Parts: sequence; structure tokens; C-alpha cells
Amino acid sequence: MSFALIMGASGDIGGACAKRLAASGWSLYLHYYRHQQPVLTLAEELAKRYPKQDFLPVQYDLTDEDHSEQLTAQLFSVDAVIFAAGMTYYHLFAQTTPAELSTLMKVHLLTPMVLLTKLQSKLAASGHGRIVFIGSVYGGAGSAMEVGYSTVKGAQSAFVRAYAQEVASLNITVNVVAPGAVATKMNASFGAAALADVRATIPAGRFAQPQDISYYVAALCAPEAAYLTGQTLYVTGGWLR
Ligand SMILES: NC(=O)c1ccc[n+]([C@@H]2O[C@H](COP(=O)([O-])OP(=O)(O)OC[C@H]3O[C@@H](n4cnc5c(N)ncnc54)[C@H](OP(=O)(O)O)[C@@H]3O)[C@@H](O)[C@H]2O)c1
Repeated sequence: MSFALIMGASGDIGGACAKRLAASGWSLYLHYYRHQQPVLTLAEELAKRYPKQDFLPVQYDLTDEDHSEQLTAQLFSVDAVIFAAGMTYYHLFAQTTPAELSTLMKVHLLTPMVLLTKLQSKLAASGHGRIVFIGSVYGGAGSAMEVGYSTVKGAQSAFVRAYAQEVASLNITVNVVAPGAVATKMNASFGAAALADVRATIPAGRFAQPQDISYYVAALCAPEAAYLTGQTLYVTGGWLR
């Protein structure tokens, strides 16, 4: 049985990835940080629907790069890792604090990289290891008011391009799925008028649903997706690319 670790399974995109991968036969480690309940509810729902698979909650704060063993020691086999945790700050770069920059870098980049140094041997043992980061179109296009966030999202793509070359011979693929604007609670702080303004600029005429993103994550995790690696797949409804 194949096991995927979904970082940020308590979030909207991570939760959609969990549902899609469970439907494809995966057992899952479901990570949360502050919100345990969504993951407990999800694990219960998936266990009822797929009784032969395992769904195991795990907790970790990605701003803590020093105790990653506490997370990795709980995991038996790991065939795929999905990094779907994240957050942003919305203001001008000149108002950004060093603490905010540090949090952005740790959550999106540093701690995921540290975790991968610990998980690489398990992913290699799988014979079809899969790593997928949920990046952002802002990593390619950049965005005013989210300069730090755009920077770490671009760095995820740079990491994937390089790391994919190191682990291709281990049959591990490493890719980024980079959404445009997705209807999730990450955008909940924007008012209806601001959201409508963004919607008007998206050629597809709507925000993505989390399932629009999880479709590509699950596709990249399939055994047949063995020859696509080091790539950033922009899933944006035609927005900004
Ligand atoms: N929504 C969009 O428009 C959009 C567009 C492009 C890219 N993305 C990216 O998609 C990913 C998922 O976002 P989403 O829209 O699904 O947001 P979401 O529903 O707000 O979920 C955010 C997830 O990140 C976790 N998280 C936040 N801070 C953390 C920390 N310090 N340590 C560990 N986990 C932490 C949360 O855990 P808890 O809730 O348990 O604390 C939650 O699982 C992010 O990387 C985001 O940058 C989103």
C-alpha cells in the first residue's frame, strides 16, 4: 500500500488533495498545525469510505525547522509528499518585518527542504517517489503587496528544478503545481468587491476550486507520471501567464 504525507491537509487545497489521493487508493498521513478538527473529520470520513486504507493525523509547526525528526520519526513508509501548507502577508514590502520574512521562508521553503533530507531514503525505497509543492503563479509572475510570498514561491520552483536532477536516478519526481487564485480561506480576508476585481481579470472567469488543483497533484503522484520532473505546472485559468 502506498503512503502519502500531505502537509497542510487541514487546509482547503491540502484537504482536496487528500480526498483525491484517497480515491486513488493511497493511505495518508494528514498533517495539521493549529486546526486538528478538520483533519480528524477528514480521517473519519475517508476511513469509512476506504476501510482498507490508513488515515493518520500528524501535527507540526513548519516554522520549526529544528525538530523535524519529531515528525519524520512517526512515519513508516513514505511514497509521496505534498507540501500544501502555507500562508501570506498582504502589505507593501517596505512594511514587512524580518519576523514575517523568516516565517514565510521557513513555512514554504526551509522546513520542507529539511524534511526532504530526512525523507529522501524512504521516497527512494518506494521505487516511485513523488514530491509535489503547491507553489503559486506569483512565484513566476510576482505580485505587488506580496513580495516576500512571491519570492518564496519562486524559490520553490528553483529548488524543484535543481533537486529533481539529483533524485531522478532514484525514481523520485519533484514538481510544483502553481495555482492562480483559488477559492479558499486563505483569501477570506479580502472583501467581495476586491475578490470580484480579481475575478474580472481571470480569463476563465472564476476562481479555481481546490479540486481544480488537486486533480493535477494526484496526476503527478500516479506511477505512470514517472517522466515529468523538475517542472512548474501553472493551473491558473489563463491568469497572469
Ligand atoms: N488560495 C489561493 O488562492 C492560493 C493560490 C496559490 C497558491 N496557494 C498555496 O496553496 C497552499 C494551500 O493554501 P490554501 O489556499 O489551501 O490555504 P488554507 O486553506 O488557509 O490552508 C493553509 C494550510 O497551511 C497550514 N499552515 C499554516 N501555517 C502553518 C505552519 N506554521 N506550520 C504548518 N502548517 C501551517 C494550515 O494548517 P492549520 O490550519 O492546521 O493551522 C493549513 O493546513 C499554500 O501554500 C498557498 O500558498 C494558494
